[in-house]
Amino acid sequence: MSDRWYQQAVVYCLDIDTFADSNGDGIGDIPGLIGRLDYLARLGVTCIWLNPIHPSPDRDDGYDVADFYNVDPRFGTLGDFAELLHQAGNRGIKVIIDLVVNHTSDKHPWFVSARSSPDSPYRDWYVWSETAPPDRNQGMVFPGEQAETWSYDRTAKLWYYHRFYKFQPDLNIKNPEVREEIKKICAFWLQLGVAGFRMDAVPFIIEETVPGKPDAAKDFGYLTELRQHLQWRKSDAVLLAEANVEPAQLVTYFGDEGGSGNRIHMLFDFMLNAKMVLALAREDPEPIIDGLRDTPALPPGGQWATFLRNHDEIDLSRLTAEQRADVFAKFGPDEDMQLYGRGIRRRLAPMLGNDRRRLELAYSLQFSLRGTPVLRYGEEIGMGDDLALEGRDAIRTPMQWSGLANGGFSTAPADQLVRPVVTDDGYGYEQINVTRQRHDPASLLSWFERMIRTLREAPEVGVGSCTHVDVPAPRSLLVHRADGPAGSMLFLHNLGPDDVTVDLSSLEGEAELPNDVLADSEYPEPGKLDDLKVSGHGYRWIRLHRTV
Ligand code: GLC
Ligand code: CA
Repeated sequence: MSDRWYQQAVVYCLDIDTFADSNGDGIGDIPGLIGRLDYLARLGVTCIWLNPIHPSPDRDDGYDVADFYNVDPRFGTLGDFAELLHQAGNRGIKVIIDLVVNHTSDKHPWFVSARSSPDSPYRDWYVWSETAPPDRNQGMVFPGEQAETWSYDRTAKLWYYHRFYKFQPDLNIKNPEVREEIKKICAFWLQLGVAGFRMDAVPFIIEETVPGKPDAAKDFGYLTELRQHLQWRKSDAVLLAEANVEPAQLVTYFGDEGGSGNRIHMLFDFMLNAKMVLALAREDPEPIIDGLRDTPALPPGGQWATFLRNHDEIDLSRLTAEQRADVFAKFGPDEDMQLYGRGIRRRLAPMLGNDRRRLELAYSLQFSLRGTPVLRYGEEIGMGDDLALEGRDAIRTPMQWSGLANGGFSTAPADQLVRPVVTDDGYGYEQINVTRQRHDPASLLSWFERMIRTLREAPEVGVGSCTHVDVPAPRSLLVHRADGPAGSMLFLHNLGPDDVTVDLSSLEGEAELPNDVLADSEYPEPGKLDDLKVSGHGYRWIRLHRTV
């Protein structure tokens, strides 16, 4: 079995401000989250990824940090945070936090000082240009919301670089002081007890920006440096990075010096995310099969992090125009559901028409494919979204705990909540909530608990290999397998609406009393594997054998 904990983790992503409010001010907080750790433990979560926790003007949901060495006072104190780490640890849950160091808030004291005078010790911590960079209208991450990547600062009388919003000036990675400061930030939180970092916007952190040169060189050496530093401070700390680039480039982010990964441990599998969504839209597994085949081999220790939903839009920009059109037509037909021309700002339940069978299918697929699964809060109960909210906020509504006022999220008056609770027909908190699903063995929540527990009994998923089983099969059926030191599992997912059968008797020789460990419904025993039925939108997890 692997001693690399992240290969066996189930990661749960949440934003403190919309999770649970303990003091009735309408904003989720750390004590509120502590109170819900038992819920997460029961669900089977082994690692929480917290969206930014630092003080922030909050113009990009905390991704505009104003102090890297503190927690947002609205969430509690550093003392509360230490308590969270302790209480989570007692339940076997690790905590990783967002490390947002591509940029700071323009209200960060470093930037305030930097712009105020050429003599500021922080002047060179940011990226400036004396003349208007000709490429300032290129490379925007949020087209439509962001007009340019360089803005003129009247105080400094200079242009400054910002890959994201104007209020997020980029730090200058070429400055040795900045490089050291980022390490210090990591060391500080590791010392407090976090298990690692979800590293925001990594391709842009290491970008050596020069005005007028849109294709800046990237300093991958810094990732090696940072990894080394991390490992000295806490040997099992991990970096889980967001690098939404072409898959072929990802190998460089993992690094592979000396036969093992020496940079990022885990990278989000954006390509597989888009391919899974495309496969679900077309009810055809072909894109997933392509995805499994085409992605580069990872260095030992390197791991994918799979996801269906995160806190941003579903990014379809790596699909072809035709593929993207198919996904939009099926899952985001209204303009209001789309974002930046490339993505969908909905939760999965509404995308799948609140169809329980298709929801199980989708998550069964995600959790059984290669890598470490990451689950966004609320998905486990099938929460909906609120398209009346702006941009990505649509999927950042408060967690729905019960049928009490505000879904049990907060006792504050409804108009004082950080964001409104969903009240729509079908997805409102009175129908969709934890309390209602907790004691119902047939609920989606109970299904997630079962599915996650089954996954934990199958360490080959995550630790082992994941391959497409290339046998003649009905078009809508994906057959894949996971093989590791602990044994082998076979997975059948029928993406289409019609029942199918498949003959997998070629695998019979490997099977030792094969049995369904998870399925959408009860099937006859797999026997010789020669006549395996899978219902429309059904799935089967079949254990072939177990060695240890
Ligand atoms: C990442 C985050 C996103 C944020 C951006 C700027 O892409 O996922 O939410 O807005 O970085 O920090
Ligand atoms: Ca609060």
